[in-house]
Amino acid sequence: MKTYKIAVIPGDGTGPEVINEGVKVLAAAAKKFGFGLDLHYYDLGGDRYLKTGETLPASVLEELKGYQAIYLGAIGHPDVKPGILEKGILLELRFKLDQYINLRPVKLYPGVDCPLKGKRPEDIDFVVVRENTEGLYAGAGGFLKKGTPDEVATQESINTRKGVERCLRYAFEYTKKRNKMNKLTLCGKTNVLTYAFDLWERAFREIAKEYPGIKADYAHVDAITMWFVKNPEWFDVVVTDNLFGDIITDLGAMIQGGMGIAAGGNINPEGVSMFEPIGGSAPKYKGQNVINPLAAICAGGMMLDYLGEGEAGRTIESAAMEITGRHIKSLAAGHMGMSTSQVGDLAAKLAG
Ligand code: IPM
Ligand code: MN
Repeated sequence: MKTYKIAVIPGDGTGPEVINEGVKVLAAAAKKFGFGLDLHYYDLGGDRYLKTGETLPASVLEELKGYQAIYLGAIGHPDVKPGILEKGILLELRFKLDQYINLRPVKLYPGVDCPLKGKRPEDIDFVVVRENTEGLYAGAGGFLKKGTPDEVATQESINTRKGVERCLRYAFEYTKKRNKMNKLTLCGKTNVLTYAFDLWERAFREIAKEYPGIKADYAHVDAITMWFVKNPEWFDVVVTDNLFGDIITDLGAMIQGGMGIAAGGNINPEGVSMFEPIGGSAPKYKGQNVINPLAAICAGGMMLDYLGEGEAGRTIESAAMEITGRHIKSLAAGHMGMSTSQVGDLAAKLAG
C-alpha cells in the first residue's frame, strides 16, 4: 500500500481543533481509496515559543525536508508580539522550503451566504496563484537614523527573473490543466510600478506565446478589487506578486463566504509543500468546539490532490460542498448549528 509521510503542525489557537477534524477526514479518505498516512506531529507555535524562545529550530526544518507534505493549522498567539511567529515560523517555512507558489482557490460552495448580491456558485470559481517567496515579503530594506526626526525606512520589492518566471510558468500550466475558461489574468500595477511589473509583464507576454490556447489577460490590482466584487465570473486563474496576492486573496475569501471555508497551499512543485486553512488562529474561539473546520478539511483535500490522490481530494471537496449545501446553517464560528467535531465526523462519513 502506498503510504504518504506527512508532517502535521496543528499550531496555535483553534489550529489544533480544525486539524484534528481534518485528520479524521484524511484518514477516512485514505481508508476508502486504499492508501496509508504516516503522520508525525510537530509542536511549532506560540506555546513552544513562550516556553523555549524557539520559532523554527534548524533541526526541525531539516526534518521537515524529509516529508512529502506538511499539514498546518494556524500560527499566531495573543501573548506573542505580532510578527514574531508569522515571520519566524510561517514565512520562514515558505522561504526555507522554497514554496514559491501560494495557491488559493476562490469558490462559492452551494448554500453559502455570499455577500455579493445575485452571485451564484457558477459565478465565483477562480484560483489565485500568488508568488510566495519574493516581492515586498523578501525583507529587503532597512532603517536609517531610526527613532530620530530624520529617520528613513525603506522596503523594497524584490522581483527576480527566475522567481517571476517560475511563478508564471506554474500559473500557465495550472490554467491549462484546469481547462475551465483557459484564461490567465496577470494582476499588477504596470502604470506605476514600472520596474517590477515591467519585468512581470514582459515575462508574462513571452511565456504566453508558448500557450496559444490560453487567453493572457491583464488587470491592475486596484481594478481587480472592483471586478472581484462586481464581476467575479470574469476570472479563471489570476497570477500576481506576493503582497498583491496577500491582499486580493483575503477579498477572495470574503466573496466565497468567509475564512471558515478558505484553504490554501504553499507549493514547491519540486520540494515539500504545505497546506493550510487561511483563517488564522482565532484565539477567542479556542477550545469551544465552535470553529468551522471546513477550511482545514478542504486544505487536506488540496494536499491529497497534490500528492496524486486526485479522486480522494475531490471526494473531500464534495463532502464539504454537501455540508455547506445541506447541513450547516452558516460558515461562521458558533453559528453553524453543529459543533466543530460534528462537522468533522460528518465530513469523514461523507468522504469515507
Ligand atoms: C497569509 C497570511 C500571512 C501572509 C501572514 C500571517 C504572514 O496573511 O497567508 O496570507 O501575509 O502571507
Ligand atoms: Mn494574508
